[in-house]
Amino acid sequence: MRVIFIGPPGAGKGTQAEVISREKGIAHISTGDILRKHVAEKTELGKTAQEYMDAGKLVPDEVIIGMMETRLSEKDCERGFILDGFPRTVPQAEVLDGLLRRLGISLDGVVLFVVPDEVVIKRLSGRRVCKSCGAIYNVHSKRPSEEGLCDKCGGALYQRDDDTEEVIKSRLEVYKEQTAPLVDYYRGKGLLIEVDASGESSAVVKSILDFVEGKK
Ligand code: AP5
Repeated sequence: MRVIFIGPPGAGKGTQAEVISREKGIAHISTGDILRKHVAEKTELGKTAQEYMDAGKLVPDEVIIGMMETRLSEKDCERGFILDGFPRTVPQAEVLDGLLRRLGISLDGVVLFVVPDEVVIKRLSGRRVCKSCGAIYNVHSKRPSEEGLCDKCGGALYQRDDDTEEVIKSRLEVYKEQTAPLVDYYRGKGLLIEVDASGESSAVVKSILDFVEGKK
């Protein structure tokens, strides 16, 4: 299974990707997670990325493209992958097309997460993430058993720097301007699958698998 997840911030791309990648034994590649690791480790790439991420803007295409060319050539991608947060602009999508051609790989689909703005704003303001393993929680819908601690590894939960009201607004605008054009790009290639992502996580996962595995 080789799919791309696109959708507004907070649509649930990371949450559903975590479940499906575990179930299917495929790689979950989140550009946001890779960038946050670079920021935490204070690498050169992380220093460049941080100011864009803090402002809710996209990191420049050339930074992302170099990073993803390396990542997609790694061994764990051979069994399949979910791309979560990449591509995010038409130039990134064009580079990805060329890269997949060179690697002799084709996509099974591009899943568009459809969720109203008010739902994503509520989800993002309630999101908490594990500092150690990256597991995703929510004060409204997915609380850990022990307040502030990750169920999986016991790590401390924190609120992402870009989950403030002001930055969320900017991320939504950036999504509409720069990422939404990918919907027509992939529709034109016959790859787009639209999923209502406003319901329960288990229902969203089921819709994605039904579509991708050809049951609908
Ligand atoms: P990134 O980390 O990719 O952020 P994003 O796309 O804004 O997406 P999010 O991680 O915020 O949301 P999500 O859809 O994964 O939602 P989640 O599953 O966590 O990128 C961060 C930044 O990095 C960007 O702003 C940019 O600067 C940079 N960047 C990354 N990729 C780039 C690229 N390709 N090019 C340039 N720059 C790039 O869910 C959200 C919350 O909702 C959670 O708390 C979860 O528990 C809850 N939830 C999820 N699903 C449900 C459900 N069905 N019901 C109830 N609650 C739910």
